[in-house]
Formats: sequence, structure tokens, C-alpha cells
Amino acid sequence: MVNLDTISSLCKRRGFIFQSSEIYGGLGSVWDYGPLGVELKNNIKNLWWKSMVYERGDIEGLDAGILMHPDVWKASGHVGNFKDLLVDCKSCKKRFRYDQIKTDKCPECRGELTTPRPFNLMFKTFVGSVESQASEIFLRPETAQGIFVNFKNILTSSRRKLPFGVAQIGKAFRNEITTGNFTFRSREFEQMEMEYFTRPEESDEWFKYWVEERFNWYKKYGIKEENLRLRKHDKEELAHYAKACYDIDFLFPMGWSELEGIAHRTDFDLRQHSEISKKDLIYRDDEKKEEIIPHVIEPSGGIDRTFLAFLLDAHREERVRGEKRVVLGFHKYLAPIKAAVLPLLRNRSELVRLAKSIYEDIRGRFKVSYDDTASIGRLYRRQDEAGTLYCITVDVDSLEDGKVTVRDRDTMKQERIPLDRVKGYIEERVR
Ligand code: GAP
Repeated sequence: MVNLDTISSLCKRRGFIFQSSEIYGGLGSVWDYGPLGVELKNNIKNLWWKSMVYERGDIEGLDAGILMHPDVWKASGHVGNFKDLLVDCKSCKKRFRYDQIKTDKCPECRGELTTPRPFNLMFKTFVGSVESQASEIFLRPETAQGIFVNFKNILTSSRRKLPFGVAQIGKAFRNEITTGNFTFRSREFEQMEMEYFTRPEESDEWFKYWVEERFNWYKKYGIKEENLRLRKHDKEELAHYAKACYDIDFLFPMGWSELEGIAHRTDFDLRQHSEISKKDLIYRDDEKKEEIIPHVIEPSGGIDRTFLAFLLDAHREERVRGEKRVVLGFHKYLAPIKAAVLPLLRNRSELVRLAKSIYEDIRGRFKVSYDDTASIGRLYRRQDEAGTLYCITVDVDSLEDGKVTVRDRDTMKQERIPLDRVKGYIEERVR
């Protein structure tokens, strides 16, 4: 597999990902998604939303605020438990996670280390104009709590019956100590989380179901099965809210690492919020005359990690007629650009005019690009490296026979098709 240095330089060169605030020296572990990156990211989010909300009848959507009442994080256990043990080097002043250093000396300079002390990973900020203790709040470290605190609102407004789920996509923030590996562990990232509320006695079955369902989702959109695995958490590794958890791991260049976790959260969150807020978060089954605190199964994926995995997995290098060809072979729904229109000769105004009119005709429903800034060989290579599905080339014959050449990214096969078929041809293939 391609290494992270190669992929991060491709990301910068082609406009997938940039370092945040780069002109000021950068901000560590925060990333900006460029013109191609935002397309790929949106495609990932749309596919997830489609599979969670549109294709099923049992899941509703939500978009809760990033800022929440500070008591939310007391109830969720994040104030008490969301901590890493840290040590500082007394000589070079670097900071390390205690569980990740193997000696009692500084891994960088062999200096003496302080005794370990807990460090909460939540970012603090202030609400209102007075920076006092009373107005201190947190940037959410997971999107899930927005769903739990809205459980009753969603239940009553949508008249749902168990089992049902609530899906949400949004930013989360963690003041991570160990960063690196490109976007893998960032301080600002996006999560796609779904909380599935079930009867307690049915929850173990649903847990198994969601582990399988989520594993298959990655396969469906092109991740090679040999690069995916399921890993069960040991008891000691489980988060404070979980009774069981599986990670879906991807074989990143630095080794197997977590893409998504599927946790059995029991009734922990609803019980906690009910206790701290003093509000009733009970589900009432009127037919069976039962009062239940539902159990929750949570598939929680990171969009940035999914993005990186799709990118790494799609990357391939081939030799074509003695030349290197770099291709991002994304699944058709993930490809940032679906088609590029390229005039064969940029100094022939009739060709350029025709190419631009095709471009204007087919753009609108998805991302299409137009490029006339290099020779056709270079233009093809550029589009291959961006993962563009089809290149539409306008040549001198097009002016005579009213046909263009459509080149397929993967097979490189070329097909002549009439001008009035171009739009339909692309739409049929990417829909
Ligand atoms: N609500 C459960 C939860 O937040 P988690 O395992 O801490 O569980 C879920 O996070 C997913 O969010 C991870 O599988 C990962 O994909 C992503 N994630 C967590 N921390 C991240 C970070 N610092 N940078 C990028 N993605 C992260």
C-alpha cells in the first residue's frame, strides 16, 4: 500500500487536504479539505446518510448544536472519565501519553519525566462575555450526546416505536496528545453516529446486526476485504459507557487501526441524563403496558478516517506503455469528479467552444470539470490522479461527425458517442 507521505503530498498537490492555517506555520492536527476533498467528503456523508436514513424505515436524522449545557458532559461521564494520563519531560518539556511510552525516561531526549497526571481531552470555551467559571462550556467530544438529550423530543415528534434509530453527522473536538499519521488522529474531526434504541432483551441481537451491517458498508463502497477486520474490545479496553464493543479496523500504512466502533451502550446514557436532568426519559409501550429505558447500539464512524481509508485503498500505480500512471480508483459514487471535458487542441477556438458547451450542458447534477491547460496525455494523467470517472475529449472530427470520445478511467477504453448522448451516458453511469 502507498505510504502516508506520498498520499499527503498528493492530497496537497491535487487539492484534497491542506494543513490548517498553513501560511501562519500551520495549526497542529487540524486540516482543511480543498476542492476535491470537500467533494469526496460530501460523497461519503451522503452515502452514509442514504444507507442510514433513506434506505431504511426505522431511522430519523438530527443535527444538534456543537455547544451543549455543561451538565451534559457530567451526565455522560466525559468530565470524570474522558482523560489520558500524561507525563512531561523536565528537560525538553515535551508531553507524552503515559500508556504509550515504554521507558521511564523521555523517548526524545532521555530526560527525567514528571509523575503521570490526568488530562481531560475536552476543549473548553466560554459562553457569554465574562470568562468566569460559571460560563465555561465544552466543544463536544462526540456527537452522540446531542441524540441522547433529544431522545424524548424525537420520540414524541416522530411517534416512533422501538426499535428505532437517530443518525447524525457533525464535528467533534478532542485535545489529542498523540497526533500524527496525517489526518488519522485530529483535534477537530467529523463523526457519523447512529444511536439505535432497542428493547433490552433484543439489544444483543441488534448489536450483532449492526456490526455486520457496518462492516459490509465499507466493502460495498470499495474497500478491499483484506484491508478490513473486526476486533472485539477486551473488558479493560471498553469505554466507561459500553458493555461490549467491536472496532472495524483498516490496514493503514502504520498498521491496523480503528475506522469505526460499534458499541453496546446499554441504558447508560438515558439513565444518566434522566438522573442528572431530573427528566423522564422513559419509553412507554401502551399496548403491553410497559415502561422501558431502551438499550442503545451505536455505530460510530469517523469521516476523516473513512476518507483516508477510501483514498489509500483507491490509490494504485500502473505502467502504461512504459509510463507511470497514478489512479485513484474510487467507487463511482465516491469519485469527486464524475466527468472532465477536454478539448484536444486548446488553440482551436471551435473545439474550445464546443467543449465548453458540453461542459455547461452536463454540469449541474454532479461535479464536472473542464481543462484545456495541457496536452491531452497530461490532462488524462491529471484526471486519473483525481479519480475522475470519465474524460470526454473533443477533437477535430467532432466538428464533422458530431461525436466525442469518452474514456473510462479504469479500463482506459475509448468510445465514440454522439454529442446528444453525452449527458445521458454520464448520468446513467453515475446515478
Ligand atoms: N460516540 C462514541 C465515540 O465517540 P470513539 O471510538 O471515541 O467513540 C468514534 O470515536 C470514531 O470517531 C472513531 O472510530 C474514529 O473513526 C473517530 N475519531 C475518534 N477520535 C478521532 C480523532 N482524534 N481524529 C479523527 N477521528 C477520530
